[in-house]
Amino acid sequence: MGDGRALVAASILNADLANLAREVRRAVKAGADRIHLDVMDARFVPNLTFGWRTIAHLRPVTEAPFDAHLMIAEPGRWLDDFLAAGCDSVTVHVEVDEPLEPLLRRIKAAGRAAGLAMRPGTPMAALEPYRHLLDIVMVMTVEPGFGGQAFMREVATRKIPEARRLLADKPWGGEVHVDGGVNRETAELVGGLGADVLIAGTALFAKGRNPGREVRLMRALADEGYALELNGGVPPAPREQMVRLTSLPRALGEPLRDAIEAAGVPVVMLRGSGLLGPDGVRDMDLLVPRVSAAWVVERFGARRDALEAEAAAAREAAAPAFAEPGSGGA
Ligand code: DX5
Ligand code: ZN
Repeated sequence: MGDGRALVAASILNADLANLAREVRRAVKAGADRIHLDVMDARFVPNLTFGWRTIAHLRPVTEAPFDAHLMIAEPGRWLDDFLAAGCDSVTVHVEVDEPLEPLLRRIKAAGRAAGLAMRPGTPMAALEPYRHLLDIVMVMTVEPGFGGQAFMREVATRKIPEARRLLADKPWGGEVHVDGGVNRETAELVGGLGADVLIAGTALFAKGRNPGREVRLMRALADEGYALELNGGVPPAPREQMVRLTSLPRALGEPLRDAIEAAGVPVVMLRGSGLLGPDGVRDMDLLVPRVSAAWVVERFGARRDALEAEAAAAREAAAPAFAEPGSGGA
């Protein structure tokens, strides 16, 4: 994983299909953050690729997350097989003729990330009824079915910001994926529009390409675009960076941690460098992902402040009886 914001997923559709395991290793060695698996059934799209059995055989090859992109007419019928094969996320197309809510719920119930993809011509509004269930919105910038097609700039410019808005209520873990014709020429644009995951096939696997260099270039250009267009010229914080929300005695910190986690944001609670409590135990630091900090403060800031005041009052009340070791106090 790079130390920036943008992630790169390697689509193995245009890799050497006779040596998929080797190609997956090559992509991961090149620094790809994910493996993007294009499953096509020659019904939903005019092409036939591979299914869950191939994915199950590739699963032991790497720890890297597997993002399944199901371009199939009946995802519900085969979903359990893709979950059993070890996919970390499953994205189906909003255009399929199946009830989508139960499908998305099944993916989430299996502890995986649930996504919806849409053809270039499908409006983002089609995803609106499912926004509360989405972890991933996949914006297709080519007609699904083949690698190596030309990137649709107008589609990207219109739909990536719409996808970000659709996921805006999700404080953590929501991802906008852009798929089709993504490479070093288009990375800065999609980064500047706010894409989180850049899916690339031809850019990595075409003959004569150095996949490591392409991954690094795409990531750097996407983050440059993000900095310029969406971050006031400031390089984006690393995706995994955590920041301290507060320091509290464990008994006060744990319920706050649980409430924030229940809202969908991971909290790391660890022994901090803060103040000693009346019981001689040092306060715990509560850390949250930097990208979610503003959302957390907006919803839990008042509660945090009240807990900090409560801890200070308890410390104050105990102050006469308790002094720092070596402070010469009682
Ligand atoms: C197309 C697939 C894409 C494709 C990307 O239907 O969903 O993932 O493989 O390949 P490039 O990067 O070559 O467009
Ligand atoms: Zn794809």
